Amino acid sequence: TGATTRAAGTAVERDRTVAVVGAGTMGQGIAQVALVAGHPVRLYDAAPGRAEQAAESLLGRLDRLVTKGRLAQEDRDAAAGRLHPASGLDELADAALVVEAIVERLDVKQQLFTDLEKVVDDDCLLATNTSSLSITAIGGALRLPGRFVGMHFFNPAPLLPLVEVVSGFATDIASATRAYETARAWGKTPVACADTPGFIVNRLARPFYAEAFAVYEEQGADPATIDAVLRESGGFRMGAFELTDLIGHDVNEAVTRSVWEAFFQDPRFRPSLAQRRLVEAGMLGRKTGRGWYTYDEQGAHRPE
Ligand code: NAI
Repeated sequence: TGATTRAAGTAVERDRTVAVVGAGTMGQGIAQVALVAGHPVRLYDAAPGRAEQAAESLLGRLDRLVTKGRLAQEDRDAAAGRLHPASGLDELADAALVVEAIVERLDVKQQLFTDLEKVVDDDCLLATNTSSLSITAIGGALRLPGRFVGMHFFNPAPLLPLVEVVSGFATDIASATRAYETARAWGKTPVACADTPGFIVNRLARPFYAEAFAVYEEQGADPATIDAVLRESGGFRMGAFELTDLIGHDVNEAVTRSVWEAFFQDPRFRPSLAQRRLVEAGMLGRKTGRGWYTYDEQGAHRPE
């Protein structure tokens, strides 16, 4: 496939506008990355007022970087001058790249790109940050699907270097290369891959979680023991239980479910019954105070 072939290509030029659609967790992070890299950035969200709020909290994060000595005040001020919250899609007309980070629903994403294509130039690169939908499927709605590519950032986008640059069946090599080189120019570590369920990271992380949960379900060892083994012997920064408590079981289980479904319910990717119970009980991890562990001001404990 063309996915792993990287012909010569150029990054989106620094003086060209990058638009980010969806000003939630990921959209804010991606906007920050593009802004600090020097682009004019337009940030749009369908929820009224959300883009302005997001721009404010983004600038607040830049202020904290200034306080910590990691960003010069003048660079922060220049960045503030380049950040433009938008109140309609039509304000994104000058974008050379649009990165979409809206709700994870195929029909909503397809509709957005159909609308976007009526606004932007034909040479505008269109990218989605989807973590579980097919790039080929989203791109199927486009008039010019060759310019459509996955740019999958990880949370928090300003801190984590990896970006999966995903080619769908119709993605041009030139578009994939441009996305790849842009991620590199933004100080990221891009990897090129094809459009398979879960791409690379969300696919190969499934057995990591599943096998840890299976050991627990079979009463092989408790979560704290398994986490300690993964950290101390496996060299992982976090074990499977503490990491999924951090991610949130609703989010983590939904990704597992989607990869499992996409592989026609291959048992290798089967969701965990114990994790399903946590989701049903609303024990979603750190954000609800209880998951595999319980959380209070003192930190993590095993519930007992
Ligand atoms: P979020 O819920 O924090 O933000 C989504 C934003 O999109 C909301 O502000 C919402 O108002 C807005 N929105 C919804 N529909 C819209 C539309 N039609 N037009 C414009 N704005 C719209 O979601 P989050 O977590 O930032 O996720 C966004 C995307 O990034 C999803 O596709 C998700 O799968 C993906 N992703 C999420 C990661 C994470 O750890 N949260 C990691 C990597 C990818």
